[in-house]
Amino acid sequence: MWHPFKRREEVVFDPTNVPTHIGIIMDGNGRWAKKRGLPRSAGHRSGASTFKNIVHDCKDLGVKYLTVYAFSTENWKRPQEEVDGIMNLLRSYLSDAFANPEDGVRVIVIGDREPLADDIKEQIIKLEQESQKSETVMVLNIALNYGGRLEIVHAVRQLAQRVKDGDLQVCEIDEAAISNLIYTANQPDPDLIIRPSGEYRTSNFLLWQGAYSELVFMDVLWPDFTKDDLVRAIAEYQKRNRRFGGV
Ligand code: FPP
Repeated sequence: MWHPFKRREEVVFDPTNVPTHIGIIMDGNGRWAKKRGLPRSAGHRSGASTFKNIVHDCKDLGVKYLTVYAFSTENWKRPQEEVDGIMNLLRSYLSDAFANPEDGVRVIVIGDREPLADDIKEQIIKLEQESQKSETVMVLNIALNYGGRLEIVHAVRQLAQRVKDGDLQVCEIDEAAISNLIYTANQPDPDLIIRPSGEYRTSNFLLWQGAYSELVFMDVLWPDFTKDDLVRAIAEYQKRNRRFGGV
């Protein structure tokens, strides 16, 4: 029986066996703020700062792909003020990452961009183009207005259209056909998905890609998440025996 990951456990970390692709659900900003009697916006601000540190730490440890859940398709249901606050943090991050890029990090925004404000859409395009100009050490996927189910719906719609147009046979629809149409096409699936904040679910994150991912749940709130926590999560991943359905 898997027990919630305890921070005090002894950590045995193998720097030569770091997961190629890590996904992180950046959860717990609101509770972090509440514990301190601060507005939720302060939690998100602190979470954005943790995010920047962890991008750097992942690259440092040799992770090749990092996918972070920044805003889900369901997060629009939050109070307008909170949504605006997160969007403003995103604006600052995008302009900051453009002006002072993290060396070797290629940024890709995944999710449905349509409902985003025009200036954010433009900032995203600029950063994506700029960040792919130099040699890529790590790909950073920022999941924004992202939902795993919606991602699959979009892929299936494209396949249905091709069938309707007579360009594809129904029997040609297989797992590879869907994998090629999801946002992370051409990227390896995540080896490890980390969810801090003590919640034990994946909340529509990387639904297709995460079929065989190792899941590590931690009780630290995202703004408090440090490189040590990242190393602990990777060490836990290294203890797992990945069989991909085999023996
Ligand atoms: C979940 O915490 C967090 C979010 C919905 C937003 C995540 C946003 C950031 C980390 C900052 C902005 C991101 C970038 C890329 C600049 P929660 O509010 O659900 O926390 P709670 O469960 O404790 O209420």
